[in-house]
Amino acid sequence: MELSEIYEPVAAELTEVEKEMRVQMREMYERHGQGRDDQGFLQRIASHVFQVPGKRLRPALVLLSARASAFPTSSDECALVRLAVAVEFIHTASLVHDDIIDHSSYRRAQPTLNETFDNKYAVLAGDILYSQFFSLLVSLPIDADRYRRLLEIFCAVTREMCQGEILEHRMKSSPSLTSYDSYLEMIRSKTASLMSACCQSGSIIAGADRGIEGMLKEYGLFLGLSYQLVDDLLDGDFPVEAGSNTVQRVNECTLRAREAISGLGESSYRRKLLEMSEYVSGMIPTKR
Ligand code: FPP
Ligand code: MG
Repeated sequence: MELSEIYEPVAAELTEVEKEMRVQMREMYERHGQGRDDQGFLQRIASHVFQVPGKRLRPALVLLSARASAFPTSSDECALVRLAVAVEFIHTASLVHDDIIDHSSYRRAQPTLNETFDNKYAVLAGDILYSQFFSLLVSLPIDADRYRRLLEIFCAVTREMCQGEILEHRMKSSPSLTSYDSYLEMIRSKTASLMSACCQSGSIIAGADRGIEGMLKEYGLFLGLSYQLVDDLLDGDFPVEAGSNTVQRVNECTLRAREAISGLGESSYRRKLLEMSEYVSGMIPTKR
């Protein structure tokens, strides 16, 4: 199964996401760098970061979750696309900072920002990307209540991601903190919290009730856990002895993700979310 097949019911919106990302990038260096020496520099940074597109997993989760929560009603198209773009910005900001922390020289087979421009510029570029996320969030044409809830969710997610990243590095330097439970806690904070927020926020934009929103939130959490477990398995990047336990954990998380949305109304979007959880667990080489 290819990701493009899973994205198929939201393919048109994902095309809009790509267009809006380019608009936002231009805004980043034109509005913020206007008339200043650094405009060209910001432009170089922006094109460097987005030169090799990612999988767009998080925008797709926003879109599929929104549609799966409120099928067949049509949520505000503009708000949905902007939110999908916003989550790609916060994700990209976190990767830029992660590469600095990890001293990584390559991502997606191209030199990282820290490798190309030095750490100090990479830190600041990550901050600019993060601020662009908030610019997008405040521009969403939604009511005050939903807006406040989205802000709360993403402020909490940012804290969680930072705490997860702190825990990861403390575990590497303090063996006493290193247990399988703390590893799970770390990947929940570092990765699953954002995927969960993508699904939950999509559902909020779609105007779903709290029950449905909770289902999507939980789905995203378990999907995110299995995603990071598989990613670490493929990279051999475990701070703890994990062994074959990981495959079992991935299967458990896949099941929990599927169960989380079992109460959602039947739709092609829900089916694609189910396929997404299978896709992630199918990334384990032995399971192909
Ligand atoms: C990649 O993990 C990194 C993350 C999932 C999160 C990183 C989070 C921060 C740096 C906190 C800052 C957050 C914001 C919002 C600016 P990985 O190292 O396992 O993956 P990799 O192999 O792709 O590097
Ligand atoms: Mg890292």
